[in-house]
Amino acid sequence: MAKTIELRPLAKDDDRSGFSCGQPELDRFFEHYAGQNQFKLHLAVTYVALVETRIVGFATVAASSIERASVPSARLRKRLPAYPLPVLRLARLGVDTRAQGLGIGRALLRHVLALAVGQRDHVGCAGVVADAKPEAVSFYQGLGFVVVEGAREGLMHDESLPMFLAIETIASALEG
Ligand SMILES: CC(C)(COP(=O)(O)OP(=O)(O)OC[C@H]1O[C@@H](n2cnc3c(N)ncnc32)[C@H](O)[C@@H]1OP(=O)(O)O)[C@@H](O)C(=O)NCCC(=O)NCCS
Repeated sequence: MAKTIELRPLAKDDDRSGFSCGQPELDRFFEHYAGQNQFKLHLAVTYVALVETRIVGFATVAASSIERASVPSARLRKRLPAYPLPVLRLARLGVDTRAQGLGIGRALLRHVLALAVGQRDHVGCAGVVADAKPEAVSFYQGLGFVVVEGAREGLMHDESLPMFLAIETIASALEG
């Protein structure tokens, strides 16, 4: 896209009311809960993408963990210990409908992957787990994410599917 995208953490006085990514549950979260989760409860941090001062996308991340058995790579499972492994969770991602298809989702995701490398260097990180809405599974697959082992079992058709991207893959993608 030709216009510059600015990426930064959500600020308390950001106007979130006019944002719509086409998924009411995500819009409601962004408008009503992203702020309190970040500034009052300290459970998660939301990063926003801006074009010419307008918020056109957001990504919410939180510290999380994954069991070794859930890692969707037999080769990687063999190397990992059998206790919960630290990951960065991409809990929510949304791009305003007026700005979709312009590379903003990809830019936000790249920012999240860079955060995971920072987490790796400071406190440890085995990868990123994204909670993918059914319509977004192919978006994440296109970026290298793989559905978490056993995640499809017992899942309702409209529930989010956890998808994993290993930190080694992330690091080489960012360097490349
Ligand atoms: C899914 C979403 C975040 C993608 O953001 P975006 O800014 O439109 O995507 P980008 O323009 O950065 O596209 C990046 C790549 O993903 C592809 N892509 C985008 N949306 C896709 C989708 N729903 N399914 C499959 N691929 C998709 C693009 O074609 C592009 O591929 P390319 O580089 O090979 O051409 C955005 O469409 C959105 O907010 N959708 C509604 C809410 C949602 O589903 N959020 C994800 C829930 S976890």
